[in-house]
Amino acid sequence: MLVSTLMVFMFFFNIHHLHVLSCPDPTKQTTTNCTDQDRKLLEFPLNLEYLEAEFFLFGALGFGLDMVAPNLTMGGPSPLGAQKANLDPLTRDVILQFAWQEVGHLRAIKNTVKGFARPQLDLSVKSFAKVMDAAFGRKFIPPFNPYANSYNYLIASYLVPYVGLTGYVGANPKLQCPDSRKLVAGLLGVESGQDAVIRTMLYARAGHIVHPYGITVAAFTNKISDLRNKLGKMGVKDEGLVVPKPMGAEGQIRGNVLVGDKFSLAFDRTPEEILRIVYGSGNESVPGGFYPKGADGEIAKSYLVK
Ligand SMILES: *[C@@H]1O[C@H](CO)[C@@H](O)[C@H](O)[C@H]1NC(C)=O
Ligand SMILES: *[C@@H]1O[C@H](CO)[C@@H](O)[C@H](O)[C@H]1NC(C)=O
Ligand SMILES: *[C@@H]1O[C@H](CO)[C@@H](O)[C@H](O)[C@H]1NC(C)=O
Repeated sequence: MLVSTLMVFMFFFNIHHLHVLSCPDPTKQTTTNCTDQDRKLLEFPLNLEYLEAEFFLFGALGFGLDMVAPNLTMGGPSPLGAQKANLDPLTRDVILQFAWQEVGHLRAIKNTVKGFARPQLDLSVKSFAKVMDAAFGRKFIPPFNPYANSYNYLIASYLVPYVGLTGYVGANPKLQCPDSRKLVAGLLGVESGQDAVIRTMLYARAGHIVHPYGITVAAFTNKISDLRNKLGKMGVKDEGLVVPKPMGAEGQIRGNVLVGDKFSLAFDRTPEEILRIVYGSGNESVPGGFYPKGADGEIAKSYLVK
């Protein structure tokens, strides 16, 4: 009895020991592939991570992945119209940190799934100006230029991590494997942090009137959020920096530095909703906006009409 108990003990000890010894080498590129569904859901956000990496790298440095990590592009075309932004030192410092974080996110996803090449991105002034014109239902003259100053750049940045964040919240319950969920939770944590920093910087200037449009920073965020709700077509999942009291946390407060539902939980969006928003078309089959040729990966491509 004692001998067999000991043997069982030794057996489990050995298994445990072997398991530790066989942990994957983190320096080795492993392609965890538990289910095909997980792979598609993990590949989809590369579309947004490429956009964020390029927008933040260019904004802070004036160049992008082609200079800092050409392998990560997998030969995809350079973004159109991206520029160095005219940023104050604090904003530039923060945006540069976000830029390197996005490079890390691209690596993390590609260490898990094969992924795809950088899609054609349109980060031109015209592309951002079109979003603002749509949000306000009028033509801005001069066109809204995200690269002109820190206010404009932060308002344009308001467009970026939040959409990724809602996508990660939406993807999580659909993932089968612990490794996939761990990756998505890690990405979600930092994307939410970026969104919070951008929103806090804007919140501190919520009443500032953006030259030459005569519109406050808070009004910009409200209009952008309204537009995203309209394009996403799934109700209110987006809120500006100052909201009517019933929409604030517990219906108690108008300040809305972070977005949440009635329980202050983050909203979720499906890939379809995200495509409708980032294409600016309200239709996942009609590319445009930041992705003039459409997004890549099996989910996005399944909607593109050949
Ligand atoms: C980039 O890819 C090339 C070709 O596959 C490879 O030789 C090179 O080592 C890679 N560089 C980095 C920094 O990973
Ligand atoms: C993952 O597995 C599926 C089949 O289960 C296969 O079709 C697909 O190519 C695999 N993907 C990768 C990245 O290995
Ligand atoms: C989306 O666009 C496709 C392709 O043009 C079209 O067939 C479809 O009806 C559109 N869907 C909606 C909801 O408008």
